[in-house]
Amino acid sequence: MPLPKINPTTAPAWKKLGLQFEAEKKVTIQQHFKNEPDRMDNFTIQWEDFYIDFSKNRLSKTTKKILLDLAKECQLKEAIAAYFEGEKINETEHRAVLHTALRSSKPTSVQVDGQPIAHEISEVNIQMRNFAQRVIDGVWKGHTGKAIDTIVNIGIGGSDLGPAMVTEALEYYRNHLTVHFVSNVEGDHVREVLKKINPETTLFVIVSKTFTTQETISNATTIRKWFVAQASEAAIKDHFVAVSTNLEQIAAFGIAASNVFPMNDWVGGRFSLWSAVGLSICLAIGPDAFDQLLAGAGAMDDHFRTASFEKNIPIMLGLIGLWYNNFWEAESEAIIPYTQYLRNLPAYLQQGIMESNGKYVDRNGTPVNYQTGTLIWGASGTNAQHAFFQLMHQGTKLIPADFIGFQKSLHAEKDHQDKLMANFIAQTEAFMTGKNRDQVVTELQAQGMPQKQIDFLAPYKVFEGNRPTNTLLIESLTPYNLGALIALYEQKIFVQGVLWNIFSYDQWGVELGKQLANTILKDFNDVEKAQNTHDPSTAALLRIYKQNA
Ligand code: F6P
Repeated sequence: MPLPKINPTTAPAWKKLGLQFEAEKKVTIQQHFKNEPDRMDNFTIQWEDFYIDFSKNRLSKTTKKILLDLAKECQLKEAIAAYFEGEKINETEHRAVLHTALRSSKPTSVQVDGQPIAHEISEVNIQMRNFAQRVIDGVWKGHTGKAIDTIVNIGIGGSDLGPAMVTEALEYYRNHLTVHFVSNVEGDHVREVLKKINPETTLFVIVSKTFTTQETISNATTIRKWFVAQASEAAIKDHFVAVSTNLEQIAAFGIAASNVFPMNDWVGGRFSLWSAVGLSICLAIGPDAFDQLLAGAGAMDDHFRTASFEKNIPIMLGLIGLWYNNFWEAESEAIIPYTQYLRNLPAYLQQGIMESNGKYVDRNGTPVNYQTGTLIWGASGTNAQHAFFQLMHQGTKLIPADFIGFQKSLHAEKDHQDKLMANFIAQTEAFMTGKNRDQVVTELQAQGMPQKQIDFLAPYKVFEGNRPTNTLLIESLTPYNLGALIALYEQKIFVQGVLWNIFSYDQWGVELGKQLANTILKDFNDVEKAQNTHDPSTAALLRIYKQNA
């Protein structure tokens, strides 16, 4: 069964939400707490190592219920079944969406085009395990007989962001291998990495689902030339491996068939770190920890599939996001992980969320008459507090935020951890309660400030509060919990995509820029001729660049 194709604004619950918004828009979060003595029971979820508190939202118990009705009316349950059962829910590319099968606790019984996929999944996993272990143990040798000590991941988008973010996030669990990432087509990026590495002891992992991506093929070609100039063609087999669905192109590039880690078209790029795309992660943290990452994601998938909607973390966070996006007209969402390890989680989720749900055409092929995907941004706390929190506290925009924190620090630095977590907890309280004029005045009077100065200063020191946050408090940053956290956001993407009636698993919006870049690259050969084929601004840029290039 394909995904339902329901315009959410036609659902009875959508209309009720509109009325509810009018009735509730002046009720503050603090008033919700006063009105609902049992709010903590209704707005928290405990699941494994995760404690989720979404009580600090502009959302009453009644609204929550209507949001849950909306999910039912938009047939979310049926959509989840279609997704996990391997239906071709990515209709515009005619593909199933089965990254969940890669991390399923039991071998999946799902078939694609009548073929079971469980065996292939386990074969690739074993291939990755064995290869990674040989590299880690120094059994796999470079062309001069030395063990590998450096990995270079060559890829972009989903073939870079996931592996880079997870490798960084799990630094604590890393082995001796140094891992670099080359993504940008900018030659300076690749050259800076080449400066740092030794061809004798480096393994290059070329990751590209399509193996046609301009950036990745350019970087891989430059690196190959650099490598052959110092080693030999024959040495390529000891230093280059590839991950792709495009086995022909890999062979054309000269990668030995035994060095190929296949992936399938039912895994989308931005959901692919669980597949062979995660090879750099597997190398950096070892196969056992990589399996833990998969297990955590699989456990979150089980929770998503089986928990009641009301106690379902991705569903509740998805519905709350929709409430702000479509009724409060919030344009963005901030993601603030209180750990340096996750400093790149917001950048990773930008691709996951914005490439998936940044669509204005619905599943019926019609432009939507409501908002879809939110802008995602953020940075690690406490650093973010000293950067953009001013605007979040006192700016004019409504910015719902997810605060992600960990009960235990990995290095058990108690003093630091207490300070970090004091900030983590204090910020969500501050966002909600704010500080009123009376409090400001009393504070300033206590400091002995003259009344005239107090009158001048007070308006600037008032915080109106009532700013919404979700708190995700997790036991500790283990590979398992990280897997679960990433899967949580992946499933939130799915929930919102279903409700907004859009196709979340294609990305046609990135194609036009790629196409025009290829045209302009050709136009560089004859700028004069190309002048009439572009608008005046573009034509001038072309001319100026070429004159000075
Ligand atoms: O930017 C579009 C995109 O197709 C992403 O979805 C993908 O993650 C990235 O390019 C890289 O693609 P590939 O793995 O095929 O090189």
